[in-house]
This record gives sequence, C-alpha cells and structure tokens, in this order.
Amino acid sequence: MTETKTTTRPNIVNLDELEQQAKKQLDQASYDFVAGGAGSELTLRANLEAFQKITIMPRVLTGIKKVDTSIDLLGQRLSMPIYVTPMANHGVVHPLAEVGSAQGAKKAGTLFVAPTGSNKTMEEVATSIKDSPRWFQLYLNKDPEINKQLLRRAEKAGYSAIVLTVDLPVLGMRDRNIRNSLTLPKDLSSPNGLSERFIAATRGLESLTAGIKDDLGWDDYEWTREHTSLPVLIKGVLSPNDAEEAAKRKVPAIIVSNHGGRQLDTGFGAIQALQPIIERVGGKTKVLFDSGIRRGTDVFKALALGAEAVGIGRPVLWGLAIYGADGVAAVLKHLQTELVNVMRLAGVAKVSDVSSEYIETNDW
Ligand SMILES: Cc1cc2nc3c(=O)[nH]c(=O)nc-3n(C[C@H](O)[C@H](O)[C@H](O)COP(=O)(O)O)c2cc1C
Repeated sequence: MTETKTTTRPNIVNLDELEQQAKKQLDQASYDFVAGGAGSELTLRANLEAFQKITIMPRVLTGIKKVDTSIDLLGQRLSMPIYVTPMANHGVVHPLAEVGSAQGAKKAGTLFVAPTGSNKTMEEVATSIKDSPRWFQLYLNKDPEINKQLLRRAEKAGYSAIVLTVDLPVLGMRDRNIRNSLTLPKDLSSPNGLSERFIAATRGLESLTAGIKDDLGWDDYEWTREHTSLPVLIKGVLSPNDAEEAAKRKVPAIIVSNHGGRQLDTGFGAIQALQPIIERVGGKTKVLFDSGIRRGTDVFKALALGAEAVGIGRPVLWGLAIYGADGVAAVLKHLQTELVNVMRLAGVAKVSDVSSEYIETNDW
C-alpha cells in the first residue's frame, strides 16, 4: 500500500503549476476572483504572451561566479528586485489575509505594499512585520476626510511611501465575478476606510469599489502630495504622455501596470509599455513594473527594459492560499532563485548591470 504523505512545506516547481494546485483547493468564485481579468481577458493573456516575444541574449566568458539580486529602492534595501504588489481582499484565499502575505514578504527580505482594500487594518499589517519595508496603496475616497485619516494612519504605522492607484475610475467588467455573482464572505471586512457600512450592506461586486473617487485628475495627485510627508508614487501608467507629465511634476516613481488585465480589456501586454516610457522620462522619475510576471526570465526582461523592480500579484495569493505566510515567502524566493539562474546564464553579476544589451524584442 502506498503511504500518502501530506506536507505543508512549500514545494514549488513553477508558478503556473502552483496556480493549478491553488485552483484545486479554492472554490470557483474565489479562484476566479483572483485569476480573472476584464472582458474577454485579452489583456490578461497579452500580459503573459508579450514576455514570450522578448528573447534573451547571453554573454559568455564573463568570469562571473556570484550574482547579487539585492537593490536599493527609494532608500530601502531589498533582497531582490521583486515586491508584493497591492491586492485587495487577501482574506478571500486565506484567513491570515494581508498579515500572512506581509509576513511572507518579510521572510523573503522584500517589500510589501498594503492595499486600501485590505481585510486587516494597515496597523495590524505593520505591527506584524515590524521594521520590514512597507508601502501603502491608496484608493482616494470621495470623502477627503477619509483620505486625510488614511494618510495620517499610514505615516504613523511606519509605511514609507504612498502608492496612488489611478487606473480604476470604475471597476473593469470582470465576467467571471458577474457569472459567479461574487459576494465577499461575511467574515471579511475592509477596515481601512472604504465605506464599511456599504460593504456590510451589499457585499456584492459594488462593494469592491465602494467610496472610491471616480474622477481622478492631476489635481488629486497634487492634493495627495500636499497632505502627506511621504513620497507619493503613481500606479497604473501605460501612456508615455502620462509618464512624461509625471516626470514633469517630479513624481518620485511611477508603476507601469495594466492592473494585471483586470481593468481595460483589449489592451497590449503591459511589458510593451515599458521601453517607450523609459525613453520618454529619461531618468527623471523611477519606473517600476507589474502585470504578468511569472518567471525569473520575466523579471530579467523587465529589468533589462529599464524597470527598477517588479511587483508580483496573483502568484503571491496562490502561495498564501496553499501554505500561508511560508507560501508567500516561497513564491518570492522561487522567483529570486530563477532570477539568479538567469543572471548566471546570461553572464550578469548584479541587478544594475541588467540592460537592454541582453534582450531583443521581436514582433510586438
Ligand atoms: C485579487 C487582486 C486584487 C487586486 N487589488 C488591487 C488593489 O486593491 N489596488 C491596486 O492598485 N491593484 C490591485 N490589483 C492589481 C495588482 O496590484 C497588480 O497590478 C496585478 O495583480 C499584477 O498582475 P499579476 O497578477 O499578473 O502579477 C489586484 C490584483 C488582484 C489579482
């Protein structure tokens, strides 16, 4: 008789297989909430496919033996150029919710970006990771008093930057959630300041955007900057024109992202936006990237195109769903291990040396 061993030690072959494992474990609506994109999910697929159109050109006889993946990002030392991107409602996949993911990021020595739409308060998240690097993602509320409170709380809880997400004037049409009549489980709340009463009343799709300001302009960016001592980054930039405006306004960093294909459908793969933006901003603002990173090779390609660091979304939640905080750490470390392998094979010793010399983009 074969003995079945159950193990709780994360065992990751690759992040696609991890997703399949998580899919078996989660109910359909929860899996779809994380995995899904907007509309026909063309942007979602394009995010992954675009990476395949970039090839890597290795150098040999470099004499390199050791590679170093650590970086400095806005004054903080990270073990790798990889961080946890903000995602609402981690509690849909695991009871530890954002606390589990934040602890996983800490274990891996990297940055956690806590979302406004967190199921744990930003203070609980901060306390659970003490001195570990953390930023707070802000969805501006229609009520400026709520925004002032959120900014004050973030400063007090030791978050060192604000990430203002600007690509959600309305929620993308996410067919899977509509099909599943997605409702948030009763035991999940959104205690950071989205309209709690509204969420309690509906728990449906509308609750995902309850209270979020739906007519953001550059004046809202300036308002946010005036009301905090923290640097305010912008997440969700795709057009070089917007990137240029951000550089003109001395935005410290922008995050090139299409929200993981969850907002506007029939877009291009987010990675395709990177190079034109890097060229346009000419080093005046830092550029980060997320959307579609699943492999160390993807991280390498984004760095080669000019990103300082990359955010990881869904795979973090797959790790959390199956193994809790250790799973999140394992996902991040797995990507780091893959990145080390690519850097060794491409002949690059440190992150700042990864340049466009090592890649070619084909048939965008
Ligand atoms: C379940 C889920 C919830 C998300 N919630 C937010 C959010 O509250 N704020 C935000 O700026 N982005 C949010 N995002 C988008 C991510 O920050 C990121 O842009 C995207 O997941 C990156 O793509 P990837 O999942 O392919 O790595 C969410 C993504 C997912 C999967």
